[in-house]
Amino acid sequence: MRAVELTLERRDGVDPYAVLESGDILTIPKSFFEDTPGDRDFLLQVRPSRGQFHKNVAYRPGEDRVSGLGEMEPQTAARVRSVLRNYSRNVIEFVGELLPRYRAGWHLDYASLRPVEEAGRELPLTKRNDLLHTDAFPTRPTKGGLILRFFTNVHPAKPRVWVTSDPFAIAAERYASDAGLDRFARGSMYHVRQALAAAGILPKGRSRYDEFMLAFHDYLKKNDEYQQNCPKYRFAFSPGTSWMVFTDMVPHSVESGQLALEQTFIVAAQSLANPKQAPIAILEQLAGAPLG
Ligand code: SIN
Ligand code: FE
Repeated sequence: MRAVELTLERRDGVDPYAVLESGDILTIPKSFFEDTPGDRDFLLQVRPSRGQFHKNVAYRPGEDRVSGLGEMEPQTAARVRSVLRNYSRNVIEFVGELLPRYRAGWHLDYASLRPVEEAGRELPLTKRNDLLHTDAFPTRPTKGGLILRFFTNVHPAKPRVWVTSDPFAIAAERYASDAGLDRFARGSMYHVRQALAAAGILPKGRSRYDEFMLAFHDYLKKNDEYQQNCPKYRFAFSPGTSWMVFTDMVPHSVESGQLALEQTFIVAAQSLANPKQAPIAILEQLAGAPLG
């Protein structure tokens, strides 16, 4: 896999859909962050609230609301919200113009501020960012939609270093069965979880696909053999650059870096230039059963 740069002056040589859907990373040499004096120093000191619910500070563009901030003065919270609002708007506008095919059926998910140094960060195993994984959201089912994420390294000096591996088609072919795909596609586990959802014990509205993707996220993080032996590709994103990737399609981990901004889009599988590359299509093919 590779990172393909989209230069802002000449876009003609690059097909962004082909890059993203084949599991590569699209980099953009621009930050989309409106830096008013002192903003970076200010953001470097922001900390997500304690407790396992908030790994980052989140911003919901639809509601213009911030969550995951610890105790702080209202003016401080308003400043964080204003930075995230501006970034989110700039990115949504840029990505919408670049990828109209996706915009037609996308759902805007959260933006986030990631102010904590990733190297040596202590988190419970399934929340660790330094272990390779494909993304899945415990509380926001996509029902087959893809997770497209746009990141910017806004740290004044340090790169943000990622390690990635071969895309979903390869990882799923090798590991989906061991991770229990058949049980999710056909079996009892899904019905048990449906019953728990109906009783209000588990969140409602999750498809078999969502259940499997969440299990696969944990499976990869817990699998030492995969973590050690899978092919690895390392990328150091310099300060001031942005990158975009389907994070449910590309196994990724963060080795180091501090201060990133990010915006997530949920892209309908049917919106892809090649819908066969969507994880749901790959899994349905492997399972021989619908998962939606
Ligand atoms: C992740 O999605 O695993 C984290 C990526 C990052 O914060 O750079
Ligand atoms: Fe991730």
